[in-house]
Amino acid sequence: MNVLHVCANPKPTEESVSKQLAAAFFGKLIELKPEVELVNVNLYDEKPPFYSYELYKAAWYPVFDENYEVSKVEELAMNYASKQAEQFNEADVLVLTMPMWNFGVPAIMKAWIDQILCPGLTFSISKEEGVKPLHKVKSVVLLVSSGGVYKEDDDRDALTRQVRHSFGFIGVEDVEIVWAEGQNPLFFDNYEENKALAIEAASEIAEDTAEIDLSPAAEEVAAD
Ligand SMILES: Cc1cc2nc3c(=O)[nH]c(=O)nc-3n(C[C@H](O)[C@H](O)[C@H](O)COP(=O)(O)O)c2cc1C
Repeated sequence: MNVLHVCANPKPTEESVSKQLAAAFFGKLIELKPEVELVNVNLYDEKPPFYSYELYKAAWYPVFDENYEVSKVEELAMNYASKQAEQFNEADVLVLTMPMWNFGVPAIMKAWIDQILCPGLTFSISKEEGVKPLHKVKSVVLLVSSGGVYKEDDDRDALTRQVRHSFGFIGVEDVEIVWAEGQNPLFFDNYEENKALAIEAASEIAEDTAEIDLSPAAEEVAAD
């Protein structure tokens, strides 16, 4: 099983609840499946560029005009996206670790999503066939921490919606969420308990992840 872990958190693990969720998740997953091939991307070490006009042209002009010739400069603008998409396309499972910042994903994570959701790299798109995945990611595991508490369908939560819809767009329907909510000690006396529950949940999701069937037969059933 190939796992790509993308982390958007500048803090050290001892200060970061979401990174502690990741430690629990990977501790359990690797205990159960030592053969897991793990690729870690720390976005603060591999910063994504903001989406550029050149990248837009390289990615989207050929979608609308099959004769469009991508220039050298446009090709270069695709370097980051290409490298990240290559790792993404190798993965069976994507794990995203992040805090909630201003009700959404940290900007550095959004910039990474903007890079990899690129036609020709992780999906194809046409009038005839719509959007087709070029990857084999079966499941996204989202490990997130927030100061506040957001019940399901709380419309202040742009974070889980962003993740669900972005990866749903390219064909990943299974998004597992482990959420350490209520981490602001000023307003939540039970923040430690909330964190402990989330750490336990991370370990349980790791058990489910270890069970994901990657055999070609499972692929066929899923396609039926
Ligand atoms: C810049 C910034 C913005 C934040 N915005 C929110 C927010 O919109 N909603 C929320 O519930 N918590 C917010 N928080 C609190 C964090 O989500 C919370 O402290 C979380 O536990 C951080 O995760 P970490 O410990 O993994 O870094 C914000 C924190 C920072 C630093």
